[in-house]
Amino acid sequence: MSIKVEFLYYFMIKKIMNRFNLVSASLNPVLFALYRQYLYWRYNDSESLSQAELIHEKSKKHLLSMSNSFKNHFDYFQSDKSNSIKLNSYQFPNPIGLASGFDKNCDLFVPMSYIFGLVTVGTILKNKHLGNIQKPLDGKIRVIVNSKNKSIINSQGYPSEGLDYTLNQLKKYSKNRNSKSKLILSFSGMSENKSIDDFLDNSETIIKSTHEYVDGYEDSRSSPNTEYNKLIQTSEITASLMSILNSHAPTKIKILKVSPYSSLSPSENESKSKFEIIKKFNDSGGNMVVLNNSLSIDVKNTYNISNFNNTRGGLSGNPLYPYTEKLVESVHKKYPKLFIIACGGVDTGEKAWSLINKGASFIELYSGITFHGLNLIVQINKTLQKKLDPYSYQTFIDKRNLKYS
Ligand SMILES: Cc1cc2nc3c(=O)[nH]c(=O)nc-3n(C[C@H](O)[C@H](O)[C@H](O)COP(=O)(O)O)c2cc1C
Repeated sequence: MSIKVEFLYYFMIKKIMNRFNLVSASLNPVLFALYRQYLYWRYNDSESLSQAELIHEKSKKHLLSMSNSFKNHFDYFQSDKSNSIKLNSYQFPNPIGLASGFDKNCDLFVPMSYIFGLVTVGTILKNKHLGNIQKPLDGKIRVIVNSKNKSIINSQGYPSEGLDYTLNQLKKYSKNRNSKSKLILSFSGMSENKSIDDFLDNSETIIKSTHEYVDGYEDSRSSPNTEYNKLIQTSEITASLMSILNSHAPTKIKILKVSPYSSLSPSENESKSKFEIIKKFNDSGGNMVVLNNSLSIDVKNTYNISNFNNTRGGLSGNPLYPYTEKLVESVHKKYPKLFIIACGGVDTGEKAWSLINKGASFIELYSGITFHGLNLIVQINKTLQKKLDPYSYQTFIDKRNLKYS
C-alpha cells in the first residue's frame, strides 16, 4: 500500500476511535480487529526486533497514552463488587490478571491497574539483559505469532532493562496506580555466570529494593527459554527463595509460576518432581501458584518452522489450554486449599469458567488479549457474573473452600 493509503487507513481508524471515547472504542471487537490488522500491515521486522515485538512496543505506547481514559472509565472493567475476591488481607477487585512478560519493564502498570484485578510485571533481572539473540533481517526471530490457531511461540530468554530501570519506574509512577488492583513483580535472579549463590543474591537484592512498591512476588523459574532454568527448578531452591521472601517481604503475596506438563499423559516422575516443588512452596508459606508458563516445544523438528532463533521455544495461546486444564485439575486435587491462578490459552469467558470449576480462583491472560483485545476481560467478568447470579464470586470460592476445611 502507498503512503497515501496508509495515512488514510490510519486516519480513518483514529477518527472512528475518537468519535467514541477511546476506551469504549478499544473494547469494540471490530475496531480492535481493524487496529490489529493495521499494525501488522504497517510494521515489519526491524534490525533488532521481530514484527511481533515491534508491534508489541507500538501497542504499549498506545496503551500508555490512554492511561487517563482507563482511569476515567475503569468501571467498564470493574463495574461492581460482585467479582471481587479476598486472599488473606488482600482484596482483589476482580479475579482477572495480566500475566508476566507482557509488561516486562514496568512501563504499563498504571493503565493496567485500572483494567485488571492483579497485574504481574516483569520478569525482571537484576542486571540489564538483552535476552536470546535474534537477527530478524537475516530471518532469525524469537517471537512467532500464528493468527490462525491463536498461538504465540517465543524464545525471548528474559530480555530485561534490569532492576535500576524497574525501580525508577516504580518510584516515579506508583502513586498513580489503582491501589485496589494488586501489583506483582515477577523476578529471576539469573546471572551470566549461572552460579546458584549469585542467583539467590540477585533475588534478594531485587526483593529488598522493591518490596515497598509491590503487593507480591512471582518466582519465575519456569520459562522454557533459558537452559539455566532447567537446573534451578528444584525444591531446595524453592526453599531458599521462600526463606528470602519470608525474611524481606513477609506480608507480601508469594506466587510460584509452574511449567506445564510436557505432555497430556505425563510420566509419574514428571508429576512427582512438580509436586515436590509445589509442596515445598506450600509448606513454606506460599500463597498462590500460576498454572502454567508456556510449553517447551521443538519448533524446528516438530513444527517445521525454519526462521526461529532456537531449536526449542515456548508455546502460548489456544493450543496450551488443554495443558492448563490438566495441571489445574491435578494441583487442585492434591492441594485443594492452595489458590490457583490459571494461565494458558484462556480466550473466552467459558474457558475461564471451566478452569474455575476445575479449581482455579484467578485467571491470567497474555496471548488472549493480543488476539482479542481488552474486551476479553469484560467478557470474562460478565460470564462469571452471569454464571453465578445471584451469588457473588466470593460466595462461590468460600463455598468451595468450606468443603476442604
Ligand atoms: C512473548 C511472551 C513473553 C513472555 N514472557 C514471560 C516472562 O518474562 N516471564 C514469565 O514468567 N512468563 C512469560 N511468558 C508466559 C506468559 O506469562 C504465560 O504464562 C503464557 O503465555 C501462557 O498464557 P497465554 O496462553 O495466555 O499467553 C511470556 C509469554 C509470551 C507469549
